[in-house]
Amino acid sequence: MSWIGGKKALRELIVSSFPLYYERYIEVFGGGGWVLFHKNPGNDFEVYNDFNGLLTNLYCCVRDKPNELIDALYFVLNSRKDFDRVKDALARDSPESDVIKAAYFYQLIRYSYASGLTSFGSQPHDMWVNFPLIEQAHRRLSKVVIENKDFEKLIGQYDRPVSFFYLDPPYYETEKYYKNIGEDGFQEKDHIRLRDTLMKIQGKFLLSYNDCDFIRNLYDDPNIQIKSYSRINNIKQRYDNGAQFPEILVANYDMSERKKSTTQINLFEMKNGIKKEEDNFYEDD
Ligand SMILES: C[S@@+](CC[C@H](N)C(=O)[O-])C[C@H]1O[C@@H](n2cnc3c(N)ncnc32)[C@H](O)[C@@H]1O
Repeated sequence: MSWIGGKKALRELIVSSFPLYYERYIEVFGGGGWVLFHKNPGNDFEVYNDFNGLLTNLYCCVRDKPNELIDALYFVLNSRKDFDRVKDALARDSPESDVIKAAYFYQLIRYSYASGLTSFGSQPHDMWVNFPLIEQAHRRLSKVVIENKDFEKLIGQYDRPVSFFYLDPPYYETEKYYKNIGEDGFQEKDHIRLRDTLMKIQGKFLLSYNDCDFIRNLYDDPNIQIKSYSRINNIKQRYDNGAQFPEILVANYDMSERKKSTTQINLFEMKNGIKKEEDNFYEDD
């Protein structure tokens, strides 16, 4: 589902930059879970975490009580009045059960403008088309551990030499969009706290960020790899056609190891006459 800062457009690039080997997959800033839902579960021990308790409650209900959640969403109205009623109830923390709370929050995500949770979107949307998605997500999450912790505690708890952390924190200077979480939201000191935490871990990490001097300086270290890329900036297209949004991936391992291993397998197959297709080399940025 859509979520502010969701990695829908980048999920394939991110998964192809994962390390070749790990046993524990921990998604620290889970949000809409675009990367977790895209990756192959394999035999990994998987953890989804987010500091937003309404979001983790929703995913717990999707995993453990999908039919009750669907029942609670059956007759919701796509109306401003109902949107405001549900939003007020969540603000007062008045829903009487975890499932009702999850249904209200899901309603806010689906019916708000740009999934921003604050204002009614005034867009047609059939809630019932989401029910098969909820069932699919229920199956995918069946073995996933769901946590609701601040990143530093979570990383400390799950760090091992075989752990791999994917992190997608609020981007630098866009933190205000996540202000509903915690007292003060994510701040500059939290970006520094994240860097200090990651530089000490035993496992591997892959981190998504917007490309800016502040973040590049934070991770300026010989053991850290930074890869840049850009994508079309949808918000700016109206007045600046073709505007790009520069982003980076930051890691404490070689982000191209997965691609190199694919290339090696292709070369091996060609040498042995199994495959006679065109060369399949990948270039680093
Ligand atoms: C950029 S979004 C993640 C988007 C996600 N990768 C996706 O594809 O939907 C950042 C997330 O970090 C969460 N967050 C904010 N502060 C946090 C903290 N201190 N610890 C853990 N998560 C936090 C927010 O609730 C938000 O969902």
